[in-house]
Amino acid sequence: MKKVALVFYILRSLVCVLGHLDHPYEVECPNYPLIREAKNELCWEEKLYLQENLKHTSKHLTQFLKSLNHSMFNERIIHYIERDRPRIGLAISGGGYRSMLTGTGFLQEMENIGLYNCLNYVSGLSGGSWVLMDLVLHNFEVKNLIKDWNLNDSLLRGIPEIDIKQRDIISGINQSEIFDGIRAVKRDYVEYEPDFNILKNGKKFSPLLKVKELILQSIRGRGKLTNTPQDKNTSIIDSFKNVQQIVKFYIELHHSVRPKRVQGFQISFTDYWGKALGKRLKGNILTSKPSSSFSDMARNSPSFMKFQAPIPVFIANCRNGLLKNVIFEFTPFEFGSWESMLRLFVKIPYLGSDIVGGESLKCSKGYDDLGYITATSSSVFNNVLLYIWGQVSKSSKETIKAMKIIMNTIGLTAENQIPKNEQRQPLETYYALYQNNPFYKFPNINNELTDKDYLYLVDGGEDGENIPLRTLLIPERQLDVAFIIDSSSDLNNFANGTKLKNVLKQLNKEHEVYEPLGPEFKLTDHPVAIGCETKYTKDGKTLPILIYNTNKDMVYPSNTSTFKITYSEEEALGMINNGRQIFTDNNNPNHNKCLGCLIIKRTLDRNKGNIEIPIECLDCYEQYCIS
Ligand SMILES: *[C@@H]1O[C@H](CO)[C@@H](O)[C@H](O)[C@H]1NC(C)=O
Ligand SMILES: *[C@@H]1O[C@H](CO)[C@@H](O)[C@H](O)[C@H]1NC(C)=O
Ligand SMILES: *[C@@H]1O[C@H](CO)[C@@H](O)[C@H](O)[C@H]1NC(C)=O
Ligand SMILES: *[C@@H]1O[C@H](CO)[C@@H](O)[C@H](O)[C@H]1NC(C)=O
Ligand SMILES: *[C@@H]1O[C@H](CO)[C@@H](O)[C@H](O)[C@H]1NC(C)=O
Ligand SMILES: *[C@@H]1O[C@H](CO)[C@@H](O)[C@H](O)[C@H]1NC(C)=O
Repeated sequence: MKKVALVFYILRSLVCVLGHLDHPYEVECPNYPLIREAKNELCWEEKLYLQENLKHTSKHLTQFLKSLNHSMFNERIIHYIERDRPRIGLAISGGGYRSMLTGTGFLQEMENIGLYNCLNYVSGLSGGSWVLMDLVLHNFEVKNLIKDWNLNDSLLRGIPEIDIKQRDIISGINQSEIFDGIRAVKRDYVEYEPDFNILKNGKKFSPLLKVKELILQSIRGRGKLTNTPQDKNTSIIDSFKNVQQIVKFYIELHHSVRPKRVQGFQISFTDYWGKALGKRLKGNILTSKPSSSFSDMARNSPSFMKFQAPIPVFIANCRNGLLKNVIFEFTPFEFGSWESMLRLFVKIPYLGSDIVGGESLKCSKGYDDLGYITATSSSVFNNVLLYIWGQVSKSSKETIKAMKIIMNTIGLTAENQIPKNEQRQPLETYYALYQNNPFYKFPNINNELTDKDYLYLVDGGEDGENIPLRTLLIPERQLDVAFIIDSSSDLNNFANGTKLKNVLKQLNKEHEVYEPLGPEFKLTDHPVAIGCETKYTKDGKTLPILIYNTNKDMVYPSNTSTFKITYSEEEALGMINNGRQIFTDNNNPNHNKCLGCLIIKRTLDRNKGNIEIPIECLDCYEQYCIS
């Protein structure tokens, strides 16, 4: 124990000397197991945190209810709320900056009326995970969201504004195929290749061919994209400067990724994407922290140490073998999956350690890089990048040259890829690669998740669900309410409920608690509540009421493309204000009261006989609940 403390002390001192630790480093293995079998419990760290956090959130919930000045939220009800504290979560969907900005506005308004402080969990995937990263970086303070993002500067250098649908690039196949046919499609390939040349109506269709043309223009031009001939006619000097800048950007990325490789870890494209994300933040806020480890940063932030922050949960999907729909989560405590085929978790500070059969062989810390985790959850963006680069290098001479320099520098060209050691196939760098796999050869579990020493993770939205909801519906978490802000791109870059249907369909395979949303389900202009009636899972647990909000044009045309990667200040503000307006249900004067009624509904149900449900709440349930 003393030794560990000493090592820790030395490392801490090193951090002080070096300023910032942003790569994995070796540590002595602790003398307790790093892997947990999740029978039907949360880990003790999360339970402990939640227990304290609930004191904070219920105090704020009481304040919120009192602030409504309604006689129905009387002392008697408050008494029960404080004894039987409602647990509240928020799920922020994918959808690139559209989702990040909408989600930020939604959170700002939640904070404005005092509900942010009532949240126990916030989950995010893809664009939604960028909000989580922002929260972790800013001590979970909503008022500081967005202020460090360089939104007016392209997210990825050399990548132009593009308007493609997420479904066009998710593994290159359409929505229904994602849901039903990935296995079939993938069997056709010896090695999985993102193939965008899909057959559509008998014609070869490549949504990204358009993109290829655009990037060529962007590189030749100034990065601004229009289709006028004038813009194509830029001087050679301009074009050269531009390529130089782009190359410089990627060389810098390369330098920041290198230390991880030097430590003996395999890297993948997502490492670059993670660093690129970090570069979008002004003033190097990421590198100004002592460590870029997610767990360090989250757990050492003052509000988390006071148990006042919601627990952030990042979501990704696993693609080992032929798997799909296997959800993994990252919390400040653990990394792993609740899916019945695994139900194992590793203590997240030790992610990347060499653990075989549950035994720790060689340990490291710092692998849980915040940028890397966020990039994993949003890795659909690096698929686009890779595809574009692949396409580009097959054409246009001067671009080939520039791109080859970049790819070579990064070390991701075909000949330069991770060496084929032993009989192993080269690891596929377009997935987010997690090696070592902490669950490798775990006793009595023999499947794709344990038979390789690596895990391939992909964008949290790649399972067609795109709302990080299932993680909030783990019965062990005992949530009473889950808010959803869905900024998916279903129709015209607006959400229309498709993703929620997908989640519920998937969930129903396990717990038949929610009514599936049939074809007759049509969204109204207002948020809806799902699962209002208390029903029980097979083991007697309840799942939360879902308060479902979609991105709509309330005060701003908020259906921007998922792949719009620059926003002016005005555009960003428009999106954020729209997100706020969504939360207020367009200033509906009864909305906050009804949210109060929905939040306390499970508590009222649990205490039936002791408290009566206020008549005004019954009206709310009538208005909001669709099942
Ligand atoms: C509740 O009453 C207080 C004090 O009378 C007032 O300041 C506040 O604005 C009221 N809140 C609402 C939501 O009506
Ligand atoms: C982005 O906005 C900042 C001010 O908010 C400004 O200083 C900077 O020049 C802008 N960058 C671009 C590329 O427009
Ligand atoms: C999507 O895939 C399904 C199943 O292969 C097919 O029936 C459908 O026509 C496809 N839709 C589009 C838009 O390509
Ligand atoms: C392209 O640029 C050259 C030199 O600046 C100019 O003479 C020519 O008119 C331009 N062509 C177009 C189509 O703008
Ligand atoms: C939602 O949009 C999809 C297209 O992405 C469409 O197929 C579906 O019918 C729409 N659903 C509703 C309820 O409008
Ligand atoms: C936004 O929605 C409108 C219809 O409401 C549609 O005409 C427009 O093309 C959409 N914009 C984008 C970028 O999808």
